[in-house]
Amino acid sequence: MESPPAPFVPPAPRPRTNPPSTLEMMRIVYRNPLELWGEPSYNEPWISIDNTIGGPLVIANDPGLIRHVLVDNAKNYKMARVRQKILRPILRDGLLTAEGAVWRRSRKAMAPVFTPRHIAGFAKPMLERTRIFAERYEDTTAPVDVSRDMTLLTFDILADTLFSGEIAGEPGSFAKQVDRLFETMGRVDPLDLLGAPDWLPRLTRLLGRNSLTFFRRIVADTMAMRKAKMANGNEVSEDFLTLLLRAEGPDGLTREEIEDNIITFIGAGHETTARALGWTIYCLAEAPWEREKVEAEIDAVLGGVSDPVNWLDAMPFTRAAFEEALRLYPPAPSLNREAIQEDRYEDLTIVRGAQVLVMPWTVHRHRALWDSPEAFMPSRFYPGNRDKLDRYQYLPFGAGPRVCIGATFAMQEAVIALAVLLSRFRFDTLPETNPWPVQKLTTQPQGGLPMRVTRR
Ligand code: HEM
Repeated sequence: MESPPAPFVPPAPRPRTNPPSTLEMMRIVYRNPLELWGEPSYNEPWISIDNTIGGPLVIANDPGLIRHVLVDNAKNYKMARVRQKILRPILRDGLLTAEGAVWRRSRKAMAPVFTPRHIAGFAKPMLERTRIFAERYEDTTAPVDVSRDMTLLTFDILADTLFSGEIAGEPGSFAKQVDRLFETMGRVDPLDLLGAPDWLPRLTRLLGRNSLTFFRRIVADTMAMRKAKMANGNEVSEDFLTLLLRAEGPDGLTREEIEDNIITFIGAGHETTARALGWTIYCLAEAPWEREKVEAEIDAVLGGVSDPVNWLDAMPFTRAAFEEALRLYPPAPSLNREAIQEDRYEDLTIVRGAQVLVMPWTVHRHRALWDSPEAFMPSRFYPGNRDKLDRYQYLPFGAGPRVCIGATFAMQEAVIALAVLLSRFRFDTLPETNPWPVQKLTTQPQGGLPMRVTRR
């Protein structure tokens, strides 16, 4: 009998064997923080360093410690300073960056927006958008950049589920502004790492300011348009915008908070899924024996289960491939917190003000937690195997009170997108497909994902 092929090991920086100098460290943080982590970060349960340039730092890898920080004693941890400095100017009081009472009220007000019934209602537009998107591959002969394409697809899906196409302004200008915003904003500025005062202008951010103003205006006009429609008693779609506007009120959201949250959904809700879809398609192409299983499953389900709402449950292999890509390339590679008061976990002391990093990147590749951590092995997530994982060793969507509110939306979207694309097309890598994972706002493939698409 033939032995199974050796699993595919996709590209990733090797753990460093010696620590970088301070200058080198700053350079790496700016260029690609994933290249910063050394052997101990992939082997130890935690690392505590007293004197980094950002102050005391704890890297938390142990699932028990992660649970302590994100769940059991979550009230002692706020969002880290650097993260807030980067994101708050853009997202303001959106759910991702709000804290304290504003966050509690908003999270509660938004729970009804993300009920299973509403998410299920988005399955049809997800399917429809992907079908329309997939048309472009019908006559393609030249290589396509799958990474870029997945961003276009998830943006189409998000724009449709947010606004049902009713966006103020000229057609196309919204997408253009989103693009510009992502390019120029949201970077770690070296001045933030040094803890420079806020009045010192950050060059990396100034560039995006005009685009942000313009973008906010489109969102505000779109909201006003919809509100007028609702006030006139016209029928409106059950999209995110309608659901959010219904949450407006004294115990719910303010007008500004609705605007902030729309911008937050755009910031948090399409690039993340796009990145993971791109990495999934790439890994499957490099492991054709895994791709065969996924294709066979999709063909069988599409032949019998017509309602896309049921695809996530009906396709465990497809889901597992996506979950494995989320493990290897978590779109949010680092969850950053700051201790409000001194805290203890077993014999570890976390001093007041310490930065605590829970990094899906290192936790998902930790030697004590996974067999062959660098290998692409979707079987880890097959039904039966998945239950053996500790809840806190797999954190693509975070954990605790601040767990991703869009996780079910993203999983449903991913499986529908993969089902449509892989049922019709085969994606193959080319000699020039050499992606290198780089941490920007998400874990991106540097060099893109140039691939050949052929009809199956
Ligand atoms: C594969 C796709 C996605 C990934 C990997 C992802 C990952 C995450 C993670 C790790 C967090 C927690 C951050 C922290 O604890 O610091 C988070 C929070 C959040 N995500 Fe997602 N996300 C995804 C898709 C989405 C989508 C589709 C939406 C909205 C439509 C969304 C909206 C949010 C929001 C609003 C928060 C903040 C929640 C809070 O703090 O209460 N995400 N996401």
